[in-house]
Amino acid sequence: LRESRQKLADFLGCSVTELVFTGGATESNNTILRALFQGSKNTARNEFITSKVEHPSVLKTLQDLETQGAVVHYISVDRDGELNWSEFMEALSPRTCLVSMMFANNETGVLFPLKKIIKASHEAGALVHSDMVQAMGKVPVILQDMDLDYASFSAHKFYSIKGSGLIYLKRSSPFRSLITGGNQERSRRGGTENTLGILAYGVAAEEKNRVQPELERLETLRDLMESEILSKISGVTITGANSKRRLANTSSMVISGVDGETLLMSLDLKNYAVSTGAACSSGNPEPSPVLLTMGLSRLEAQSSLRVSMGWDTTEVEINQFIATLIETVSRLRGLNQEGLKHG
Ligand SMILES: Cc1ncc(COP(=O)(O)O)c(C=O)c1O
Repeated sequence: LRESRQKLADFLGCSVTELVFTGGATESNNTILRALFQGSKNTARNEFITSKVEHPSVLKTLQDLETQGAVVHYISVDRDGELNWSEFMEALSPRTCLVSMMFANNETGVLFPLKKIIKASHEAGALVHSDMVQAMGKVPVILQDMDLDYASFSAHKFYSIKGSGLIYLKRSSPFRSLITGGNQERSRRGGTENTLGILAYGVAAEEKNRVQPELERLETLRDLMESEILSKISGVTITGANSKRRLANTSSMVISGVDGETLLMSLDLKNYAVSTGAACSSGNPEPSPVLLTMGLSRLEAQSSLRVSMGWDTTEVEINQFIATLIETVSRLRGLNQEGLKHG
């Protein structure tokens, strides 16, 4: 436990005492949001600000807190997934207790301008939490340089195994445990630790030196993949392509005339693990709420495909994937045409 905590603190650029192990980012997000709600109830600073494209572990928790009296402002995004800055600034006030904004979106990879968000929020006297699940290992994160108050992380989004996560808690930040019990985690999270999961998490963090060169390589590979797909398959748009910054490894696209779920199953049969939206909503036939919030139509959202690469993905694999995608899309579009003729 001690060694893993040190490795993770080194990776994230913070002190070991600022990290609390949890059972995953859902728990981390719940802990912070519910702690801040309890602490701010009946005070003059009791409002929350978040974005409309957060993970359900943030959105549904805030919705639950609303039923208990919380005031929450949900900030919209534009078609490229960029935060509506003027809406955010209007919502920010001396009543704001906490701003909770993710760093990287889990469906589109679009990055929010976290530095700017932190600065504006602190100027208004509000605390800032960021769901950094998708950013860890995919963009450099040095917490001590960021002046964040809270952050959430998940092990399995970082080359580790499922069932572990982290809360980053700046030393001076107010806190209240969600899970009370024994004195584990300096009495901040009761319950016997998931030692195996934490051990694996620490091992993944040792790969620090590997991250930066891989990110540059992946960005080149992603750009290559997108331009090849755009030039070889008609009717494709890359979601968030015009955003200022995106994760190097994530590509979300709309392929018109193709049902995303059918495409996903066809690609799955060829051993490609892609998704139509968030991985945690796979199997849900409803179109992605994130894409709908960005202004895509239901039809566009139902024709969407998310492809993410890993540190080991090679150019050869990407080229094989593109060839498979071209073949699959043309087959499915052909079937649609046949269906139209006979239907
Ligand atoms: C952005 C984001 N936040 C939170 C979570 C939830 O993490 P966990 O599955 O560890 O609870 C996920 C992914 O599953 C995610 O992508």
